[in-house]
Amino acid sequence: MPLILALANQKGGVGKTATAINLGAYLSFYGKKVLLVDIDPQANATSSLGLSANSLDYSIYDSLLDNRPLDQTISLTNRVNLDLVPSSRDLAGAEVEMVEMLQREFLLRQALAPIEGQYEFILIDSPPSLGLLTLNALCAAEGVIIPVQCEFLALEGLTHLVHTIDLVRGLNPTLHIFGLVMTMFDARTNLSSEVVSEVREHFGDRVFRTVIPRSVRLSEAPSHGEPILSYAPNSPGGLAYRNLALEVLERAQMSPAIEVSIAGQISKRKQAIEEG
Ligand SMILES: Nc1ncnc2c1ncn2[C@@H]1O[C@H](COP(=O)(O)OP(=O)(O)OP(=O)(O)O)[C@@H](O)[C@H]1O
Ligand SMILES: [Mg+2]
Repeated sequence: MPLILALANQKGGVGKTATAINLGAYLSFYGKKVLLVDIDPQANATSSLGLSANSLDYSIYDSLLDNRPLDQTISLTNRVNLDLVPSSRDLAGAEVEMVEMLQREFLLRQALAPIEGQYEFILIDSPPSLGLLTLNALCAAEGVIIPVQCEFLALEGLTHLVHTIDLVRGLNPTLHIFGLVMTMFDARTNLSSEVVSEVREHFGDRVFRTVIPRSVRLSEAPSHGEPILSYAPNSPGGLAYRNLALEVLERAQMSPAIEVSIAGQISKRKQAIEEG
């Protein structure tokens, strides 16, 4: 069974998508089979991996609302060994459409069930709200990774999120906080360090040791359709996401396999895509 992790925080722009893509890429670099599911109507994970949400035949929308088997929506990314269930703009109306559906909180869980055996990790990138789409992510997942931006008021909203996770446990009893990851750390400001200390005080060792720095390379990579692993692996952001992946493996009690070389991955991937 794969470890299914939802990236969630109802606060916008905290690094959910950046963490989903870059963690996913590095887990795959360490030899794990990873599926990334984009359940955000903004489709940022989809476009950050170089796919255009408008040009895809099918997306997560078709699986959630139209019963299309999820394996028919999976796209291969050609930069790293990462399978992606893309999102599309249709998803923007999905929450309204879902309200009438039976088992509406479990649509994603049901869609994932038939393909789970093919992966070791499934990462779900959720939108900045606690609506039905995020609820679907939380009901499908075993653990939640909460990215927290090193900014003023970082803790505000976390109480609400933690309370929501407690409530969701009524529907999905095994759900737990897998970890909090501090993002966009700026070493030049005292504020960043203060925020990290404050969050550690509240959440103790649930906070990952690895802190993700604010990095220009990390913000540039999505516009090239690449994770940091292929765009700038030796940049501070690349090294940080690599360490985060190792920490996630440690917490999941999995050992990293021999690193799969990026060049090897890309050429294998291109071959697979060409062969259809
Ligand atoms: N460590 C970082 N350093 C610099 N820029 C970053 C970093 N992490 C993310 N960014 C940039 O900050 C912006 C917000 O990040 P991201 O999209 O990952 O947040 P999000 O929580 O997914 O946002 P949303 O809530 O809208 O889905 C993006 O432009 C992203 O490229
Ligand atoms: Mg996002």
